[in-house]
Amino acid sequence: MAKSKTRTQFLCNSCGSVHPKWLGKCPDCGTWDSLEEYKAPTPDARAAAVAPSNGTGDLARGGEALALADIDEADTPRRPTGIGEFDRVLGGGVVPGSAVLVGGEPGIGKSTLLLQVAHELALGATERRSDEATEGDTKRPAAPGFPPSSLRRSVAPSLAPAKVLYVTSEESARQTKLRASRLGAVSSPDLLILAETNVERIVNQIHRHKPDVVVIDSIQMIYKPDLPAAPGSVTQLRDCCMELVYLAKASGVAVIFVGHVTKAGTLAGPKIIEHIVDTVVYFEGDRFHAHRVVRCVKNRFGSTHEVGLFEMTGEGLREVIDPGNLFVEQYGPGGQPSGSVITAAVQGSRVLLVEVQALTASSVIGAAKRKVSGVSSDRVAMIIAVLEKRAEMRLAADDVFVNVAGGVKVVEPATDLAVAMAIASAHQNRPLAPGTFAVGELGLGGEVRTVPQLELRLREAARLGLGHAIVPHMGSHLPRLGGMALHEVRRLSQALNDM
Ligand code: TYD
Ligand code: MG
Repeated sequence: MAKSKTRTQFLCNSCGSVHPKWLGKCPDCGTWDSLEEYKAPTPDARAAAVAPSNGTGDLARGGEALALADIDEADTPRRPTGIGEFDRVLGGGVVPGSAVLVGGEPGIGKSTLLLQVAHELALGATERRSDEATEGDTKRPAAPGFPPSSLRRSVAPSLAPAKVLYVTSEESARQTKLRASRLGAVSSPDLLILAETNVERIVNQIHRHKPDVVVIDSIQMIYKPDLPAAPGSVTQLRDCCMELVYLAKASGVAVIFVGHVTKAGTLAGPKIIEHIVDTVVYFEGDRFHAHRVVRCVKNRFGSTHEVGLFEMTGEGLREVIDPGNLFVEQYGPGGQPSGSVITAAVQGSRVLLVEVQALTASSVIGAAKRKVSGVSSDRVAMIIAVLEKRAEMRLAADDVFVNVAGGVKVVEPATDLAVAMAIASAHQNRPLAPGTFAVGELGLGGEVRTVPQLELRLREAARLGLGHAIVPHMGSHLPRLGGMALHEVRRLSQALNDM
Protein backbone atom coordinates (compact mmCIF):
# COMPACT_ATOMS: atom_id res chain seq x y z
CA MET A 1 0.00 0.00 0.00
CA ALA A 2 2.79 2.35 0.97
CA LYS A 3 4.24 1.79 -2.48
CA SER A 4 1.13 2.83 -4.34
CA LYS A 5 0.91 5.98 -2.20
CA THR A 6 4.24 7.17 -3.56
CA ARG A 7 2.79 6.95 -7.09
CA THR A 8 0.21 9.68 -6.40
CA GLN A 9 1.33 12.85 -8.06
CA PHE A 10 -0.16 16.20 -8.98
CA LEU A 11 -0.28 17.35 -12.56
CA CYS A 12 -0.69 20.96 -13.70
CA ASN A 13 -3.65 21.38 -16.04
CA SER A 14 -2.03 24.28 -17.74
CA CYS A 15 1.62 23.36 -18.33
CA GLY A 16 1.67 19.65 -17.60
CA SER A 17 4.40 19.75 -14.95
CA VAL A 18 4.33 17.06 -12.26
CA HIS A 19 4.59 17.79 -8.51
CA PRO A 20 4.79 15.46 -5.50
CA LYS A 21 2.19 17.39 -3.48
CA TRP A 22 -0.78 19.65 -4.05
CA LEU A 23 -0.09 23.38 -4.25
CA GLY A 24 -2.46 26.28 -4.76
CA LYS A 25 -0.28 27.72 -7.50
CA CYS A 26 1.80 25.85 -10.05
CA PRO A 27 5.46 26.77 -9.37
CA ASP A 28 6.35 26.20 -13.02
CA CYS A 29 3.79 28.28 -14.89
CA GLY A 30 2.24 30.34 -12.10
CA THR A 31 -1.37 29.28 -12.76
CA TRP A 32 -3.63 29.18 -9.70
CA ASP A 33 -5.67 26.14 -8.75
CA SER A 34 -4.44 24.10 -11.70
CA LEU A 35 -2.96 21.04 -9.95
CA GLU A 36 -4.95 17.86 -10.19
CA GLU A 37 -4.40 14.51 -8.49
CA TYR A 38 -2.94 11.92 -10.82
CA LYS A 39 -2.04 8.30 -10.30
CA ALA A 40 0.83 7.45 -12.59
CA PRO A 41 0.49 4.00 -14.11
CA THR A 42 2.77 1.49 -12.36
CA PRO A 43 5.27 -0.39 -14.54
CA ASP A 44 3.07 -3.49 -14.15
CA ALA A 45 0.04 -1.65 -15.48
CA ARG A 46 2.07 -0.41 -18.42
CA ALA A 47 3.24 -3.89 -19.23
CA ALA A 48 -0.35 -5.09 -19.05
CA ALA A 49 -1.38 -2.40 -21.50
CA VAL A 50 0.99 -3.93 -24.03
CA ALA A 51 -1.11 -6.60 -25.64
CA PRO A 52 0.48 -9.78 -27.05
CA SER A 53 2.55 -8.62 -29.92
CA ASN A 54 2.14 -9.38 -33.57
CA GLY A 55 3.54 -6.16 -34.88
CA THR A 56 6.71 -4.38 -35.71
CA GLY A 57 6.77 -2.04 -32.73
CA ASP A 58 10.02 -1.69 -30.82
CA LEU A 59 8.46 -2.50 -27.46
CA ALA A 60 7.49 -5.87 -28.84
CA ARG A 61 11.10 -7.01 -28.84
CA GLY A 62 10.92 -8.31 -25.30
CA GLY A 63 13.72 -6.08 -24.03
CA GLU A 64 16.55 -8.16 -25.57
CA ALA A 65 19.66 -6.13 -26.46
CA LEU A 66 20.89 -6.42 -30.04
CA ALA A 67 24.21 -5.55 -31.66
CA LEU A 68 23.87 -2.33 -33.64
CA ALA A 69 25.22 -4.12 -36.71
CA ASP A 70 22.47 -6.75 -36.47
CA ILE A 71 19.60 -4.28 -36.49
CA ASP A 72 17.94 -4.19 -39.86
CA GLU A 73 17.19 -0.66 -41.05
CA ALA A 74 14.41 -2.01 -43.18
CA ASP A 75 12.63 -2.56 -39.88
CA THR A 76 11.10 0.88 -40.19
CA PRO A 77 9.23 0.77 -43.47
CA ARG A 78 7.16 3.79 -44.25
CA ARG A 79 3.74 3.94 -45.72
CA PRO A 80 3.30 6.99 -47.96
CA THR A 81 -0.02 8.62 -47.15
CA GLY A 82 -0.78 9.59 -50.72
CA ILE A 83 -0.61 13.30 -49.91
CA GLY A 84 2.90 14.29 -50.90
CA GLU A 85 3.10 17.44 -48.80
CA PHE A 86 2.06 15.53 -45.68
CA ASP A 87 4.60 12.81 -46.48
CA ARG A 88 7.25 15.47 -46.88
CA VAL A 89 6.58 16.71 -43.34
CA LEU A 90 6.53 13.20 -41.89
CA GLY A 91 9.79 12.33 -43.63
CA GLY A 92 8.33 10.06 -46.31
CA GLY A 93 5.20 8.58 -44.78
CA VAL A 94 3.69 7.02 -41.69
CA VAL A 95 5.92 4.55 -39.85
CA PRO A 96 4.01 1.46 -38.62
CA GLY A 97 3.82 1.35 -34.83
CA SER A 98 4.50 5.06 -34.51
CA ALA A 99 2.42 7.84 -33.02
CA VAL A 100 1.98 11.19 -34.73
CA LEU A 101 0.41 14.29 -33.21
CA VAL A 102 -1.17 16.84 -35.54
CA GLY A 103 -1.81 20.09 -33.70
CA GLY A 104 -3.42 23.35 -34.70
CA GLU A 105 -6.03 25.94 -33.85
CA PRO A 106 -9.67 24.96 -34.09
CA GLY A 107 -10.96 25.40 -37.64
CA ILE A 108 -7.54 25.39 -39.33
CA GLY A 109 -8.11 22.14 -41.22
CA LYS A 110 -6.85 19.24 -39.11
CA SER A 111 -9.94 17.08 -39.58
CA THR A 112 -10.05 17.94 -43.27
CA LEU A 113 -6.42 16.94 -43.84
CA LEU A 114 -6.66 13.72 -41.85
CA LEU A 115 -9.86 12.62 -43.54
CA GLN A 116 -8.13 13.16 -46.88
CA VAL A 117 -5.09 11.27 -45.63
CA ALA A 118 -7.31 8.43 -44.35
CA HIS A 119 -9.11 8.25 -47.68
CA GLU A 120 -5.91 8.21 -49.72
CA LEU A 121 -4.38 5.54 -47.48
CA ALA A 122 -7.45 3.37 -47.74
CA LEU A 123 -7.60 3.81 -51.48
CA GLY A 124 -3.99 2.78 -52.10
CA ALA A 125 -2.34 3.42 -55.43
CA THR A 126 -3.94 0.58 -57.34
CA GLU A 127 -7.40 2.08 -57.41
CA ARG A 128 -6.33 5.58 -58.27
CA ARG A 129 -7.59 6.97 -61.52
CA SER A 130 -4.59 7.65 -63.72
CA ASP A 131 -6.14 10.78 -65.25
CA GLU A 132 -6.08 12.45 -61.85
CA ALA A 133 -2.34 12.11 -61.75
CA THR A 134 -1.88 14.77 -64.40
CA GLU A 135 -4.16 17.35 -62.83
CA GLY A 136 -2.55 20.62 -61.81
CA ASP A 137 0.99 21.69 -61.30
CA THR A 138 3.63 19.00 -61.52
CA LYS A 139 6.67 21.23 -61.20
CA ARG A 140 7.84 19.97 -57.85
CA PRO A 141 11.42 21.12 -57.31
CA ALA A 142 13.45 17.94 -57.02
CA ALA A 143 13.24 16.87 -53.39
CA PRO A 144 15.32 13.83 -52.56
CA GLY A 145 13.21 10.88 -51.59
CA PHE A 146 9.91 12.17 -52.91
CA PRO A 147 8.29 10.94 -56.06
CA PRO A 148 7.30 13.65 -58.54
CA SER A 149 3.73 14.26 -57.66
CA SER A 150 0.53 15.83 -58.80
CA LEU A 151 -1.96 18.14 -57.22
CA ARG A 152 -3.67 15.94 -54.70
CA ARG A 153 -2.55 12.50 -55.73
CA SER A 154 1.13 11.93 -55.28
CA VAL A 155 1.90 8.36 -54.51
CA ALA A 156 4.49 5.70 -55.15
CA PRO A 157 2.87 3.30 -57.62
CA SER A 158 3.53 0.24 -55.45
CA LEU A 159 1.39 1.48 -52.58
CA ALA A 160 -1.08 -1.09 -51.31
CA PRO A 161 -4.39 0.01 -49.77
CA ALA A 162 -4.31 0.28 -45.99
CA LYS A 163 -7.11 -0.37 -43.57
CA VAL A 164 -7.84 2.86 -41.75
CA LEU A 165 -9.96 3.42 -38.65
CA TYR A 166 -11.00 7.04 -38.32
CA VAL A 167 -12.23 7.69 -34.78
CA THR A 168 -14.26 10.87 -34.60
CA SER A 169 -14.83 11.99 -31.05
CA GLU A 170 -16.10 15.47 -31.85
CA GLU A 171 -18.45 14.96 -34.75
CA SER A 172 -21.00 12.27 -35.46
CA ALA A 173 -20.39 9.62 -38.10
CA ARG A 174 -23.00 11.38 -40.25
CA GLN A 175 -21.16 14.71 -40.03
CA THR A 176 -17.97 12.95 -41.01
CA LYS A 177 -19.74 11.38 -43.97
CA LEU A 178 -20.98 14.82 -45.07
CA ARG A 179 -17.46 16.16 -44.89
CA ALA A 180 -16.14 13.14 -46.76
CA SER A 181 -18.61 13.66 -49.60
CA ARG A 182 -17.48 17.26 -49.83
CA LEU A 183 -13.91 16.02 -50.11
CA GLY A 184 -14.84 13.34 -52.63
CA ALA A 185 -13.60 10.72 -50.17
CA VAL A 186 -16.50 8.29 -49.88
CA SER A 187 -15.50 5.45 -52.14
CA SER A 188 -13.03 3.52 -49.99
CA PRO A 189 -14.35 0.32 -48.36
CA ASP A 190 -11.24 0.11 -46.17
CA LEU A 191 -11.98 3.36 -44.41
CA LEU A 192 -13.91 2.70 -41.21
CA ILE A 193 -15.52 5.50 -39.22
CA LEU A 194 -16.11 5.17 -35.49
CA ALA A 195 -17.88 7.86 -33.47
CA GLU A 196 -16.65 7.09 -29.97
CA THR A 197 -15.06 8.81 -27.00
CA ASN A 198 -14.44 5.87 -24.65
CA VAL A 199 -10.86 4.70 -25.04
CA GLU A 200 -11.67 1.13 -23.99
CA ARG A 201 -14.22 0.74 -26.76
CA ILE A 202 -11.80 2.31 -29.23
CA VAL A 203 -9.14 -0.23 -28.23
CA ASN A 204 -11.70 -3.05 -28.64
CA GLN A 205 -12.51 -1.85 -32.13
CA ILE A 206 -8.81 -1.68 -32.98
CA HIS A 207 -8.35 -5.29 -31.79
CA ARG A 208 -11.40 -6.34 -33.75
CA HIS A 209 -10.75 -4.65 -37.09
CA LYS A 210 -6.91 -4.68 -36.96
CA PRO A 211 -6.41 -1.49 -38.98
CA ASP A 212 -3.01 -0.36 -40.28
CA VAL A 213 -3.60 3.24 -39.33
CA VAL A 214 -5.86 4.77 -36.67
CA VAL A 215 -6.77 8.46 -36.61
CA ILE A 216 -8.02 9.86 -33.30
CA ASP A 217 -9.80 13.16 -33.94
CA SER A 218 -9.40 14.60 -31.33
CA ILE A 219 -7.46 13.19 -28.40
CA GLN A 220 -8.84 15.88 -26.09
CA MET A 221 -12.33 14.40 -26.25
CA ILE A 222 -11.30 10.83 -25.41
CA TYR A 223 -11.80 9.53 -21.88
CA LYS A 224 -11.08 6.45 -19.82
CA PRO A 225 -14.11 5.52 -17.66
CA ASP A 226 -12.16 4.13 -14.71
CA LEU A 227 -10.32 7.39 -14.06
CA PRO A 228 -11.91 9.78 -11.57
CA ALA A 229 -10.71 12.85 -13.54
CA ALA A 230 -13.11 14.65 -15.88
CA PRO A 231 -12.90 14.12 -19.65
CA GLY A 232 -10.59 16.71 -21.19
CA SER A 233 -8.44 16.94 -18.07
CA VAL A 234 -4.70 16.48 -18.22
CA THR A 235 -4.89 13.12 -16.45
CA GLN A 236 -7.35 11.77 -18.99
CA LEU A 237 -5.38 13.16 -21.89
CA ARG A 238 -2.12 11.64 -20.73
CA ASP A 239 -3.51 8.23 -19.83
CA CYS A 240 -5.59 7.82 -22.98
CA CYS A 241 -2.72 8.93 -25.16
CA MET A 242 -0.30 6.58 -23.41
CA GLU A 243 -2.64 3.63 -23.69
CA LEU A 244 -3.00 4.14 -27.44
CA VAL A 245 0.74 4.68 -27.91
CA TYR A 246 1.53 1.44 -26.09
CA LEU A 247 -1.01 -0.33 -28.24
CA ALA A 248 0.66 1.15 -31.33
CA LYS A 249 4.14 0.01 -30.26
CA ALA A 250 2.90 -3.46 -29.44
CA SER A 251 0.69 -4.12 -32.44
CA GLY A 252 2.37 -2.12 -35.19
CA VAL A 253 -0.67 0.02 -35.93
CA ALA A 254 0.21 3.66 -36.63
CA VAL A 255 -1.79 6.16 -34.58
CA ILE A 256 -2.35 9.75 -35.64
CA PHE A 257 -3.72 12.03 -32.92
CA VAL A 258 -5.38 15.36 -33.52
CA GLY A 259 -4.76 17.89 -30.74
CA HIS A 260 -6.21 21.34 -30.37
CA VAL A 261 -3.96 24.23 -29.72
CA THR A 262 -5.24 27.07 -27.60
CA LYS A 263 -5.11 30.69 -28.74
CA ALA A 264 -1.83 31.17 -26.85
CA GLY A 265 -0.30 28.72 -29.31
CA THR A 266 0.24 25.83 -26.94
CA LEU A 267 -1.41 22.47 -27.15
CA ALA A 268 -3.77 22.00 -24.22
CA GLY A 269 -1.54 19.95 -21.93
CA PRO A 270 1.36 20.28 -24.38
CA LYS A 271 4.30 18.64 -22.67
CA ILE A 272 2.19 15.67 -21.77
CA ILE A 273 1.58 14.34 -25.25
CA GLU A 274 4.51 15.84 -27.11
CA HIS A 275 7.02 13.64 -25.35
CA ILE A 276 4.89 10.50 -25.62
CA VAL A 277 4.51 10.57 -29.40
CA ASP A 278 7.21 10.08 -32.06
CA THR A 279 6.34 12.91 -34.41
CA VAL A 280 4.71 16.27 -33.78
CA VAL A 281 3.46 18.48 -36.60
CA TYR A 282 1.61 21.77 -36.30
CA PHE A 283 -0.61 23.75 -38.57
CA GLU A 284 0.80 27.24 -38.68
CA GLY A 285 -0.73 30.60 -39.38
CA ASP A 286 -4.40 31.32 -38.99
CA ARG A 287 -7.58 30.20 -40.64
CA PHE A 288 -8.13 33.58 -42.28
CA HIS A 289 -5.44 32.87 -44.85
CA ALA A 290 -6.22 30.42 -47.64
CA HIS A 291 -2.78 28.89 -47.30
CA ARG A 292 -1.85 26.44 -44.62
CA VAL A 293 1.67 25.63 -43.55
CA VAL A 294 2.22 22.32 -41.77
CA ARG A 295 5.50 22.26 -39.89
CA CYS A 296 7.25 19.37 -38.18
CA VAL A 297 8.64 20.22 -34.74
CA LYS A 298 9.66 16.76 -33.59
CA ASN A 299 10.42 13.67 -35.61
CA ARG A 300 12.02 10.48 -34.38
CA PHE A 301 11.99 9.11 -37.92
CA GLY A 302 13.20 12.01 -40.02
CA SER A 303 14.18 15.63 -40.33
CA THR A 304 12.30 18.42 -38.60
CA HIS A 305 13.13 21.03 -41.20
CA GLU A 306 10.42 20.27 -43.71
CA VAL A 307 7.18 22.16 -44.12
CA GLY A 308 4.12 21.10 -46.09
CA LEU A 309 2.14 23.70 -48.01
CA PHE A 310 -1.57 23.49 -48.61
CA GLU A 311 -4.37 25.66 -49.85
CA MET A 312 -7.88 25.40 -48.38
CA THR A 313 -10.41 25.13 -51.17
CA GLY A 314 -14.10 24.26 -51.37
CA GLU A 315 -13.05 20.64 -51.81
CA GLY A 316 -10.63 20.35 -48.95
CA LEU A 317 -6.93 20.95 -48.76
CA ARG A 318 -4.96 21.03 -51.95
CA GLU A 319 -1.22 20.51 -52.05
CA VAL A 320 0.93 23.42 -53.11
CA ILE A 321 3.89 21.73 -54.70
CA ASP A 322 5.62 24.73 -56.20
CA PRO A 323 5.03 27.75 -53.95
CA GLY A 324 6.76 30.05 -56.47
CA ASN A 325 5.61 33.60 -55.85
CA LEU A 326 2.76 32.49 -53.60
CA PHE A 327 3.94 34.42 -50.58
CA VAL A 328 5.18 37.44 -52.51
CA GLU A 329 2.73 40.11 -53.54
CA GLN A 330 2.84 41.07 -57.22
CA TYR A 331 2.92 44.86 -57.12
CA GLY A 332 1.87 46.81 -60.18
CA PRO A 333 3.91 49.29 -62.21
CA GLY A 334 4.35 51.57 -59.16
CA GLY A 335 6.64 48.94 -57.63
CA GLN A 336 6.55 47.77 -54.05
CA PRO A 337 5.84 50.20 -51.20
CA SER A 338 8.49 51.20 -48.71
CA GLY A 339 9.09 48.73 -45.90
CA SER A 340 8.78 45.66 -48.10
CA VAL A 341 11.78 43.40 -48.76
CA ILE A 342 11.80 39.97 -50.39
CA THR A 343 14.01 37.27 -48.96
CA ALA A 344 14.60 33.58 -49.57
CA ALA A 345 14.12 31.19 -46.65
CA VAL A 346 15.24 27.57 -46.78
CA GLN A 347 12.55 25.20 -45.47
CA GLY A 348 13.93 21.68 -45.59
CA SER A 349 14.58 20.73 -49.18
CA ARG A 350 12.77 23.73 -50.60
CA VAL A 351 13.34 27.48 -50.82
CA LEU A 352 10.43 29.80 -50.07
CA LEU A 353 10.46 33.37 -51.28
CA VAL A 354 8.77 35.47 -48.63
CA GLU A 355 8.05 39.15 -48.24
CA VAL A 356 9.06 40.86 -45.01
CA GLN A 357 7.01 43.97 -44.34
CA ALA A 358 7.74 46.65 -41.78
CA LEU A 359 6.07 49.83 -40.70
CA THR A 360 7.29 52.48 -38.30
CA ALA A 361 5.08 55.18 -36.85
CA SER A 362 5.74 57.79 -34.22
CA SER A 363 4.60 56.72 -30.81
CA VAL A 364 4.04 58.08 -27.33
CA ILE A 365 7.51 58.78 -25.91
CA GLY A 366 8.64 55.97 -23.63
CA ALA A 367 5.91 53.58 -24.75
CA ALA A 368 7.14 52.49 -28.19
CA LYS A 369 5.51 49.24 -29.31
CA ARG A 370 7.21 46.41 -31.18
CA LYS A 371 4.73 44.01 -32.77
CA VAL A 372 6.09 41.10 -34.72
CA SER A 373 4.51 38.20 -36.56
CA GLY A 374 6.16 35.55 -38.69
CA VAL A 375 9.72 36.15 -37.42
CA SER A 376 11.18 35.86 -33.93
CA SER A 377 10.45 38.93 -31.82
CA ASP A 378 13.75 38.50 -29.96
CA ARG A 379 15.57 38.60 -33.26
CA VAL A 380 13.68 41.75 -34.28
CA ALA A 381 14.58 43.41 -30.95
CA MET A 382 18.23 42.64 -31.67
CA ILE A 383 17.97 43.96 -35.22
CA ILE A 384 16.41 47.22 -33.97
CA ALA A 385 19.29 47.60 -31.51
CA VAL A 386 21.82 47.00 -34.31
CA LEU A 387 20.04 49.58 -36.50
CA GLU A 388 20.19 52.11 -33.65
CA LYS A 389 23.82 51.51 -32.72
CA ARG A 390 25.48 50.58 -35.98
CA ALA A 391 23.44 52.46 -38.54
CA GLU A 392 22.51 55.49 -36.44
CA MET A 393 18.82 55.09 -36.99
CA ARG A 394 16.63 56.57 -34.23
CA LEU A 395 13.82 54.15 -33.52
CA ALA A 396 13.34 54.59 -29.77
CA ALA A 397 10.38 56.93 -30.24
CA ASP A 398 8.77 54.84 -32.96
CA ASP A 399 6.36 51.94 -32.94
CA VAL A 400 7.80 49.18 -35.12
CA PHE A 401 5.64 46.54 -36.77
CA VAL A 402 7.16 43.63 -38.63
CA ASN A 403 5.17 41.00 -40.49
CA VAL A 404 5.84 38.21 -42.95
CA ALA A 405 3.14 38.33 -45.63
CA GLY A 406 0.84 35.33 -46.09
CA GLY A 407 1.01 34.02 -42.51
CA VAL A 408 4.24 32.03 -42.96
CA LYS A 409 6.77 31.77 -40.18
CA VAL A 410 10.47 32.04 -40.94
CA VAL A 411 12.89 31.09 -38.22
CA GLU A 412 16.24 31.48 -39.96
CA PRO A 413 18.82 34.16 -39.07
CA ALA A 414 19.37 34.40 -42.84
CA THR A 415 16.34 36.70 -42.97
CA ASP A 416 17.97 39.27 -40.63
CA LEU A 417 19.23 41.51 -43.40
CA ALA A 418 15.79 41.62 -45.03
CA VAL A 419 14.15 42.52 -41.70
CA ALA A 420 16.71 45.28 -41.07
CA MET A 421 16.29 46.67 -44.58
CA ALA A 422 12.50 46.54 -44.31
CA ILE A 423 12.56 48.55 -41.08
CA ALA A 424 15.04 51.05 -42.55
CA SER A 425 13.05 51.35 -45.76
CA ALA A 426 9.85 52.01 -43.80
CA HIS A 427 11.57 54.46 -41.49
CA GLN A 428 13.04 56.47 -44.37
CA ASN A 429 9.98 55.93 -46.55
CA ARG A 430 12.26 54.73 -49.35
CA PRO A 431 11.11 51.70 -51.33
CA LEU A 432 13.60 49.20 -52.73
CA ALA A 433 14.10 48.92 -56.46
CA PRO A 434 11.69 46.37 -57.99
CA GLY A 435 13.13 42.88 -58.39
CA THR A 436 15.47 43.22 -55.38
CA PHE A 437 15.87 40.63 -52.70
CA ALA A 438 18.19 40.33 -49.70
CA VAL A 439 19.69 37.52 -47.64
CA GLY A 440 22.23 37.67 -44.84
CA GLU A 441 22.64 37.17 -41.13
CA LEU A 442 23.36 40.21 -38.97
CA GLY A 443 26.01 40.24 -36.29
CA LEU A 444 25.86 42.49 -33.26
CA GLY A 445 28.70 44.55 -34.68
CA GLY A 446 26.55 45.44 -37.69
CA GLU A 447 28.41 43.00 -39.96
CA VAL A 448 26.56 40.96 -42.57
CA ARG A 449 27.45 37.27 -42.31
CA THR A 450 27.23 34.49 -44.84
CA VAL A 451 24.26 32.15 -44.89
CA PRO A 452 24.00 28.44 -45.70
CA GLN A 453 22.79 27.33 -49.13
CA LEU A 454 23.13 30.73 -50.76
CA GLU A 455 23.26 29.22 -54.23
CA LEU A 456 19.94 27.42 -53.73
CA ARG A 457 18.33 30.70 -52.63
CA LEU A 458 19.77 32.63 -55.56
CA ARG A 459 18.60 30.01 -58.04
CA GLU A 460 15.05 30.14 -56.76
CA ALA A 461 15.02 33.95 -56.84
CA ALA A 462 16.39 33.92 -60.39
CA ARG A 463 13.81 31.32 -61.43
CA LEU A 464 11.05 33.60 -60.19
CA GLY A 465 12.37 36.60 -62.05
CA LEU A 466 14.20 38.60 -59.40
CA GLY A 467 17.21 40.29 -60.96
CA HIS A 468 19.07 41.97 -58.11
CA ALA A 469 20.37 40.33 -54.95
CA ILE A 470 21.92 41.91 -51.87
CA VAL A 471 24.15 39.22 -50.36
CA PRO A 472 26.96 38.88 -47.81
CA HIS A 473 30.50 39.46 -49.05
CA MET A 474 31.95 36.14 -50.18
CA GLY A 475 34.47 37.15 -52.84
CA SER A 476 35.47 34.25 -55.05
CA HIS A 477 33.19 31.83 -53.15
CA LEU A 478 30.10 33.65 -54.33
CA PRO A 479 28.01 31.53 -56.70
CA ARG A 480 27.50 33.35 -60.00
CA LEU A 481 24.22 33.06 -61.82
CA GLY A 482 23.64 34.45 -65.27
CA GLY A 483 21.08 37.24 -65.39
CA MET A 484 21.30 38.16 -61.72
CA ALA A 485 23.18 41.22 -60.48
CA LEU A 486 24.81 40.48 -57.13
CA HIS A 487 25.60 43.21 -54.70
CA GLU A 488 27.97 42.07 -51.95
CA VAL A 489 27.92 43.89 -48.63
CA ARG A 490 30.16 43.53 -45.58
CA ARG A 491 28.23 45.80 -43.24
CA LEU A 492 24.59 46.69 -42.68
CA SER A 493 25.34 50.41 -43.16
CA GLN A 494 26.66 49.60 -46.64
CA ALA A 495 23.46 47.77 -47.56
CA LEU A 496 21.36 50.69 -46.30
CA ASN A 497 23.43 53.33 -48.12
CA ASP A 498 23.09 51.51 -51.42
CA MET A 499 19.41 50.73 -50.91
P1 TYD B 1 -11.59 21.49 -40.00
O1 TYD B 1 -10.81 20.46 -40.72
O2 TYD B 1 -12.90 21.11 -39.46
O3 TYD B 1 -10.73 22.16 -38.84
P2 TYD B 1 -10.19 21.51 -37.47
O4 TYD B 1 -10.44 20.05 -37.51
O5 TYD B 1 -8.74 21.89 -37.48
O6 TYD B 1 -10.91 22.20 -36.38
O7 TYD B 1 -11.69 22.70 -41.01
C1 TYD B 1 -12.69 23.57 -40.86
C2 TYD B 1 -12.62 24.73 -41.81
O8 TYD B 1 -12.24 24.41 -43.12
C3 TYD B 1 -14.00 25.27 -41.85
O9 TYD B 1 -13.93 26.64 -41.52
C4 TYD B 1 -14.45 25.04 -43.23
C5 TYD B 1 -13.22 24.88 -44.03
N1 TYD B 1 -13.36 23.91 -45.12
C6 TYD B 1 -13.20 24.34 -46.41
O10 TYD B 1 -12.97 25.53 -46.68
N2 TYD B 1 -13.30 23.42 -47.43
C7 TYD B 1 -13.57 22.11 -47.20
O11 TYD B 1 -13.66 21.31 -48.15
C8 TYD B 1 -13.73 21.68 -45.85
C9 TYD B 1 -14.02 20.24 -45.53
C10 TYD B 1 -13.60 22.61 -44.84
MG1 MG C 1 -11.76 18.97 -36.31
